[in-house]
Amino acid sequence: MHVRKVNPNDLEALGQIAYQTGFFGASAERFFPSQNLFRDLWVEPYLEGAGCCGWIAQSEAGKPLGYILGTCDLPSYQRWFVQHLPQLSLRALRGNYSGLWPSLPYLLRMARYPSHPAPTQLYPAQLHINLLPESRGLGLGKTLLESYLECLRRKNIPGVQLSTTRENTAAIGLYQKFGFGVYSEYSSPLWRPWLGRDATHVVMGLKLR
Ligand SMILES: CC(C)(COP(=O)(O)OP(=O)(O)OC[C@H]1O[C@@H](n2cnc3c(N)ncnc32)[C@H](O)[C@@H]1OP(=O)(O)O)[C@@H](O)C(=O)NCCC(=O)NCCS
Repeated sequence: MHVRKVNPNDLEALGQIAYQTGFFGASAERFFPSQNLFRDLWVEPYLEGAGCCGWIAQSEAGKPLGYILGTCDLPSYQRWFVQHLPQLSLRALRGNYSGLWPSLPYLLRMARYPSHPAPTQLYPAQLHINLLPESRGLGLGKTLLESYLECLRRKNIPGVQLSTTRENTAAIGLYQKFGFGVYSEYSSPLWRPWLGRDATHVVMGLKLR
């Protein structure tokens, strides 16, 4: 197993991994039936202009096993995202997104219960990491995060943040191991329809200089 930098040709493979792991490490199918829209919302931006320092983990045979994706500047990422909304809408109108309508409740809940990022002057970078179930617990998470942080340091980025929940125990263990601290913690009903309860959201940050 090894890691290499991501590129736009990884979109399909990373979209599939994101979807298979998008519900607290399990399949996103139960809350977001449109796999293609999931990919275009939560993977594509990081492989295009809005992303930086992304890495993919692969088996020796070249099978993609997981990734770390991120942005070096959250406000530019958000601007990029808004500029690309017309393109996403066009794809929706062309019928590219089967399962679009039953995916809307989650998007509406996201708008109703927004996340609370840490200040972007202190923590401008943001990351997402996911591994297929059979590839967890083997040290790949550590390798991906090391590669990502090394890239941020080379770019002289002052800090990085992420948002997770208390459900993601392995992820929190990994972040703490690398020195991330809890910036804020709050309960949110965002996931209630699918989790059966409120989730405790955790915003974590690491200063890099
Ligand atoms: C979170 C995730 C990326 C960690 O990667 P991993 O390859 O499984 O982790 P590693 O084997 O590299 O372990 C690194 C450290 O993470 C922590 N860790 C890993 N698995 C853990 C577990 N089950 N419980 C608690 N801590 C754990 C430990 O601190 C570990 O260090 P150690 O081996 O020295 O004890 C991976 O488990 C995953 O993709 N989980 C599902 C999706 C997810 O939760 N993504 C994050 C969303 S915010």
